[in-house]
Amino acid sequence: MTFLYKADPSRGQQWAKLFAERAPEVGFRVWPDLGDAREVRYLAAWAPPEDLHTLLPNVEVVFSTGAGIDQFDLSLVPPHIPVVRMVEPGIVEGMVEYVTQAVLSLHRDIFTYGRQQAAHEWGPLPVLSASERRVGVLGLGMLGQAVLERLKLFNFRCAGWSRTPRDIDGVECFAGHEALAPFLARTDVLICLLPLTSATRGILDKRLLSGLPRGAALINVGRGGHLNQEDLLDLLHSGHLSQAILDVTDPEPLPPTHPLWTHPCVRITPHIASATRPDTAVEVVLENLRRHREGRPMIGQIDRGQGY
Ligand code: GLV
Repeated sequence: MTFLYKADPSRGQQWAKLFAERAPEVGFRVWPDLGDAREVRYLAAWAPPEDLHTLLPNVEVVFSTGAGIDQFDLSLVPPHIPVVRMVEPGIVEGMVEYVTQAVLSLHRDIFTYGRQQAAHEWGPLPVLSASERRVGVLGLGMLGQAVLERLKLFNFRCAGWSRTPRDIDGVECFAGHEALAPFLARTDVLICLLPLTSATRGILDKRLLSGLPRGAALINVGRGGHLNQEDLLDLLHSGHLSQAILDVTDPEPLPPTHPLWTHPCVRITPHIASATRPDTAVEVVLENLRRHREGRPMIGQIDRGQGY
């Protein structure tokens, strides 16, 4: 029985070491060193190979090495094979750190002070208390919830929006299409942590973002495909939005001449907000192998109909 890893090879070596320590009975291989392809029962990949079915005829479970699954062409994975996305504590911790620094930087006007410094200006601004700053998270999955739990500790006024109703202590929860407008109207800092699906592609467009109060800021840590970048530029230009922090863009990277690169009110990071941590991820994958053997649902198993 082989577990095949097909993603970044240096991370693959870390996974191999962890598997050797924690599950020596599993034959672990890093792509392209398949060994006997018929022995491969489990595949972990950023995206599955196009000829998955013929190449690995006996694969039983396909794991995404990322939290998102939108990079997967699910039509390449036969319908009887479960697909599992990465739901592991390392990814959560990274995302909590990134979003917290982004919200605090906006809250304490760090970007405005950066612009002032470039102009050799010394201009203290009034400090708003966190309890007056309204933060809203789009998407209340594991990541959205963890981010809100941490932001609550700073006393931000926290809200979240999700497709289906959620109940989170200390967070004003909005659900469904009708609730989007009131959610946006009370949000000064909007954080996108939605999965990218056919229903959410391009969701951050002029219509939605115009529903935020004037001067609001956007943090996109979902996928570049969530955001209409032209609409963002227009709203920054008109002053409706004050600042955007983008960890994801479309495409990645943006072309060298793209106006977002040099926009004074935009911060771009190269899709580093959070990544799967081999040590914590391997624990979850091993737990999922046990669950699969016992016929129990796996952590992060996706619903193909919903696309996440
Ligand atoms: C990274 O973007 C991931 O999906 O894990």
